[in-house]
Parts: sequence; structure tokens; C-alpha cells
Amino acid sequence: MAGHHTLAIIKPDAFAAGLAGRIIAHLESEGFKLVAARVMRLTRAQAETFYAVHGERPFFGSLVEFMTSGSCMPLLLERDDAVAHLRGTIGATDPAEAADGTVRALYAESKERNAIHASDSDDNARIEGDFFFAGCDRA
Ligand code: CMP
Repeated sequence: MAGHHTLAIIKPDAFAAGLAGRIIAHLESEGFKLVAARVMRLTRAQAETFYAVHGERPFFGSLVEFMTSGSCMPLLLERDDAVAHLRGTIGATDPAEAADGTVRALYAESKERNAIHASDSDDNARIEGDFFFAGCDRA
């Protein structure tokens, strides 16, 4: 099933703004099927582990604060060419640079509060999918 799954997170900005339903509908309209989903508030340890690759970046502390500031919604998604298609669907990290009609162009506030995360490779999709959904039932 390599290439068919990816991991998204509806981030605390979008979740708190009541945008989860619209974002999921947007993803479904792009052909993604929901395989697993949860609503949760990340612990500091979870956020630090999830974003460990950014540990030396100047924005790391702020990113962890933001990601632990409220509920978020990890989603395991299935579609052909899932990683690349989801990254195209959500748009550039900075909403000011995101293409018209992408999730971030529509719903993100800033480069940090950017509404949604998506895995950037098949390897990371597996790692990030297991991070949130190891041992969970999957459709
Ligand atoms: P995400 O795709 O979840 O991956 C890392 C996150 O770090 C990114 O989305 C943004 O939320 C955040 N990020 C990346 N670059 C910056 C930056 N220059 N300033 C603040 N936050 C950033």
C-alpha cells in the first residue's frame, strides 16, 4: 500500500475556529478517504516528539506552544499518490504563498497558524501515521 496513505492534522487554529468539517469536506472532494481520525489535545512531549526534526529551528518553542494550545484532529487519509496530492491540496506553508483554493489559502492565518499539517514523504507518512494511530482500528 506504499503511496496510498498519508497523515494530516487539522491544527488548533482551524479546529478552534470550527473549520474541521469544511476542511474534511475539502479533503474528501479531492478524493481522500478517511481511514482513521481522532480529536485530541497534544501533550508537550507529543508535540516535541512529533516536530523533533524542527528542534533546532528558532520557531520550535512557539510551534510547540501553538500545537498544544487546544484540540487538534489527526487524520489518516487514503488516496492514490496520497502524500503529493495532499501537499498540493493544502498549499504552501505560508498562506500568503499558498495557491488559490488550497486549504491554507482558504483557512490559514499565518506561517505558524497554518490550519493543517501533511506528511512530506511516504516514510514520514508511515512514521506519523503510526505516531497517532498505531494499534487503532482502521477502516
Ligand atoms: P507543518 O507542515 O506542520 O510543519 C512544521 C510547522 O512549523 C509548519 O507547518 C508551520 O506551522 C511551522 N513553521 C514552519 N516555518 C515556520 C516559520 N518560519 N515560522 C513559524 N512557524 C513555522
